[in-house]
Amino acid sequence: MEMLSNMRVKLGALLATFSKTLDYVDRTLSSHHLRVAIIADDIAKAYGLSLQSRRDIFVAATLHDIGVFSLREKLSLGEYDIKNPYEHAEKGYCMIKEFVVLSDAAPIVRHHHTRWDDGRGRYYGQEEIHPGAHIIHLADRIEILLNKGDEVLKQKDPIVKAIRARTNTLFNPRLVEVFADLSEKESFWFDASYSEVDELIFNSEVIPEKELNLDELEEIARLFSHVIDFRSVFTVVHSAGVSEVASTLARLVGFSTIECRLMAIAGHLHDIGKLAVPTEILEKPAKLEEAEMNIMKTHTYYSYTILNLVKGLETINMWASFHHERMDGAGYPFHFKGDSLPIGSRIMAVADVLTAISEDRPYRKGMDKETALFVIQDLGSKNALDKTIIKTAAANFDYLDEVRHDVQELVRQEYTNLKTGICFPDSHPQNT
Ligand SMILES: [Fe+2]
Ligand SMILES: [Fe+2]
Ligand SMILES: [Fe+2]
Repeated sequence: MEMLSNMRVKLGALLATFSKTLDYVDRTLSSHHLRVAIIADDIAKAYGLSLQSRRDIFVAATLHDIGVFSLREKLSLGEYDIKNPYEHAEKGYCMIKEFVVLSDAAPIVRHHHTRWDDGRGRYYGQEEIHPGAHIIHLADRIEILLNKGDEVLKQKDPIVKAIRARTNTLFNPRLVEVFADLSEKESFWFDASYSEVDELIFNSEVIPEKELNLDELEEIARLFSHVIDFRSVFTVVHSAGVSEVASTLARLVGFSTIECRLMAIAGHLHDIGKLAVPTEILEKPAKLEEAEMNIMKTHTYYSYTILNLVKGLETINMWASFHHERMDGAGYPFHFKGDSLPIGSRIMAVADVLTAISEDRPYRKGMDKETALFVIQDLGSKNALDKTIIKTAAANFDYLDEVRHDVQELVRQEYTNLKTGICFPDSHPQNT
């Protein structure tokens, strides 16, 4: 199939790009994840690990704090000594361990705050912890100590001193020595503080070259839909719903099986640009002011620019990021009109509206069937949304509502399990 022949998405490029978005919520975090990946790889390489091992560490580093949902929690990790670091590490582990392509990275994420503790931290119960976990732990703390805006070489001595002060308690002494040796090279510090992090990452040998198949791509898209949605209690199941409604609608209008799966992936990612929108705007319990609306409007633009960085996602990007474009040209941010708007993008627009109006928002309750039907049909007759797709959606309203509801219940359960710790019943032994 033509559409798939150009769909060669590489694991490394995808993760490096998505990893950046984990730090979009606060500009002061300036690519924390990618910097940790760079520092960790410098250490792993000097420590003599194989390229395969380094690649597993790279994958884990790009996702290591994925279990942190709120900005407040994220900022609290910026302290050198964190009080309870295990919870977000466990949550991250729970989020990724089921995904085949990330399963090697999962235990590394789980233990990225495990203390060395005189060598006891080499093991977790009976199992030996991947050395990458201790490497990311060290790299993460170095990154936190580094003041990116300040001249970097003069920070060398105080940082080495602070790390040494935690030798054997927090960090593996052998790794601390590797770091101390590395710290003699200016290039180590220039790498760690380089402003154009992407340039270092995308040409590095450590970036996994592996090409993803459709199942694997869908897994990672699903994972990121959780990153996008779990930020706010109001959107916990939004992308899951849009994904399901969009792919079902696509099938109803005659898309092929593969196209429907691409549509599901696009649905998971359509709001990825919302990671750049402040939570106060996402959760404002009233209609947005003009200035706030202007910021809100950037979200599809960001979705587009983020997905555009990954080769092979072109079709998915069009379907995902044009979901606020309208048939009459009155949408945003590109003002596409009528025929220039791909059918897939029109389906996504309908799926997004249909899902959004059925969900509760800070300023209103979800609409009942009658109101929802009226709203979408009205948008169709005004030529904002595609008339034909609206017709199909209206004719299958109950069915779409049911599939959406089912999938959203599942995700809500996953979220509750993460929140309440059901997926990690044993508390970390060092958490006393
Ligand atoms: Fe962390
Ligand atoms: Fe971190
Ligand atoms: Fe949306």
